[in-house]
Amino acid sequence: MYTIGDRQAWLQGPPACCSATGPVPPRPWHLVLLGPPGVGKGTQAENIIAEYGACHLSTGDVFRHAARGGDAHPPSPAMGVALTAMRRGDLVSDATVVELVRERAQCLSCRYGFLLDGFPRTLDQAHALDAMLGAVGRRLDAALNYFAAESVIIARLSGRRVCRQCRAGYHLENKPPRLAGRCDACGGELIQRDDDKPEAIRVRLQAYAATCDPVLEHYRRQGLLHEVDAGGDPAAVFARTREVFGTLNLAGSR
Ligand code: AP5
Repeated sequence: MYTIGDRQAWLQGPPACCSATGPVPPRPWHLVLLGPPGVGKGTQAENIIAEYGACHLSTGDVFRHAARGGDAHPPSPAMGVALTAMRRGDLVSDATVVELVRERAQCLSCRYGFLLDGFPRTLDQAHALDAMLGAVGRRLDAALNYFAAESVIIARLSGRRVCRQCRAGYHLENKPPRLAGRCDACGGELIQRDDDKPEAIRVRLQAYAATCDPVLEHYRRQGLLHEVDAGGDPAAVFARTREVFGTLNLAGSR
């Protein structure tokens, strides 16, 4: 069972550093998690990290962290551009997202390995990632593409709640808190993410559908793509994820 540090280098970007103290996995994994919003990537990321190690590098978490504010250092110019776009309800451009990941490139050579979640979302982002990995002498072990019916995804997103304080995730039906509206871990208030409201869900699913195919094809051509059926409960999905890990070539990683 792995618990990896506080991800401050990823969440805040430089000059922040991580205070990661957990055991380093014997085999650092370098993975990309793909799939539509709400398919369960974050849920599976928690399971993968606990069993195999690797640091969870979620671009969604970077944006939410910045939007909450409160870091000791001011946002970078790229983050300033991203925050302005998000306040207007616009998508963040590829160039800006790539710049934000580039600022955090040290995380791509993290000794714990990494689990990229939410990046790349477009072919341009995928090419930029290839270049960044090449520059730090790393390569991907696999890209796991989680898929499920749209009705399943909408139900997962509309029922999701997160703790206002510690950001722990729940679901009204599939993973309810012990006390309604309160976080099991810290007692904080459970809220709905703005982007989990019905109008926003529709926009996010459309945005994903418009860009996903070339990214999948990019990894398929490299022999890295593994399809994972995300239907069923989280344990069933993790059992399928484990099967993929069983097929990965241990000797191929750096
Ligand atoms: P981000 O946070 O990455 O959102 P997302 O990709 O839309 O993914 P989600 O976090 O919504 O869903 P998930 O697949 O992790 O599902 P979860 O495990 O929580 O990004 C947010 C926004 O930032 C984007 O919309 C975009 O605007 C922007 N952004 C981010 N990266 C970007 C990029 N590279 N370029 C441009 N813009 C970018 O599960 C959902 C719910 O279902 C939970 O309640 C969970 O408990 C439940 N659940 C999960 N699995 C199961 C299961 N098997 N059975 C039952 N319930 C389940």
